[in-house]
Amino acid sequence: MKIQQNVNLKNYNTFGVSVLAKQFVEVQTPKELKKILAHHKNIFILNGGSNMLLTKDIEKLVVKLNITGKQVVKETNEHVFVKVNTSENWHNFVLWCVDKNYGGIENLSLIPGNVGASPIQNIGAYGVEVKDVITTVNCLDIEKLTKKVFKTDACNFGYRNSIFKKEEKGKYIITSVVFKLTKQNHTIHSDYGAIKTQLEAKKIKKPSIKDISDIVIAIRSEKLPNPKELGNSGSFFKNPIVSKTVFTKIQKDNKELPFYEIDSDNYKIPAGWLIEQCEFKGKKNGDAGVHEKQALVLVNYGNATGVEILNLADKIKKEVTTKFGITLETEVNIF
Ligand code: EPU
Repeated sequence: MKIQQNVNLKNYNTFGVSVLAKQFVEVQTPKELKKILAHHKNIFILNGGSNMLLTKDIEKLVVKLNITGKQVVKETNEHVFVKVNTSENWHNFVLWCVDKNYGGIENLSLIPGNVGASPIQNIGAYGVEVKDVITTVNCLDIEKLTKKVFKTDACNFGYRNSIFKKEEKGKYIITSVVFKLTKQNHTIHSDYGAIKTQLEAKKIKKPSIKDISDIVIAIRSEKLPNPKELGNSGSFFKNPIVSKTVFTKIQKDNKELPFYEIDSDNYKIPAGWLIEQCEFKGKKNGDAGVHEKQALVLVNYGNATGVEILNLADKIKKEVTTKFGITLETEVNIF
């Protein structure tokens, strides 16, 4: 473990933003991680770099996690429990499960990032959230340097939220996650509009988890930019949840308003729709832009700085507030 000086993080964050890590070290095992933490308290943890916008050089010691590996820890007739280390690539893990016919995360195909990030913001797509299949999150307590285990109920999972983003932010490093997956009698989630349409088009009546994964990959590839080709961090904002009064007021003037009803007084409105109505879709401000097919995704066309992307995000927030009276909340972590 060698501490390097002035490392450019462009290739370590999916936005592809250039900032310097004044000090940088890579760790391969929890033991190495502990060793570093024993000597350095002022640290910045970097895993897959998929849900962050870096706006300035990092003065703290950047600890790049490269802790890989996975193993089946328990098996019954119905279920398999897989313990996956924090730096395993999420999508590769999904493909491994689909290949082994382990069900539960096929709807979460092609989400960028590493496994350790999945509980932090409770990744979700096409009717499934990762909380549905997580049994345990194993962490290292940064202060005490002891192991801390969180069972699902202790994680306070919510929409793109968990205690790791809120109450316990910065206190723990996730080292591995245990998933409970089905070996048979899979629960297939095919209600999401775009999945349904594709199943009908392909005349698939009883989809397998492989069918669902393939379809999700096709839908995402069509709409969402590949961070390897165009820097981005997925949805930049959360979809806002508004009261019935606010919802009804907007719907009155916009009959085509898409929405998800959460309960009788709460409606989730797609932020992508709000942003598109403010005419930002496909707009560019230097190298910072709004994706042309999904307005919820901000992109780096090459050499945008984090500040330029943040300025664009602020401009969008202001316009959405002016036009709809709704305050958008960022989903991506800003540093
Ligand atoms: N829409 C527009 N204009 C746009 C984008 C969307 O009008 O530019 C409309 C669509 O027409 C559709 C609705 O908004 O009626 C919903 O769009 P979409 O199905 O693309 O989903 P989303 O609500 O925008 C959420 C997640 C995505 C996830 C999809 C599918 C959040 C913040 N985002 O997006 O997650 O893949 O649903 O489940 O909840 C991510 O978190 O990085 C992410 C990509």
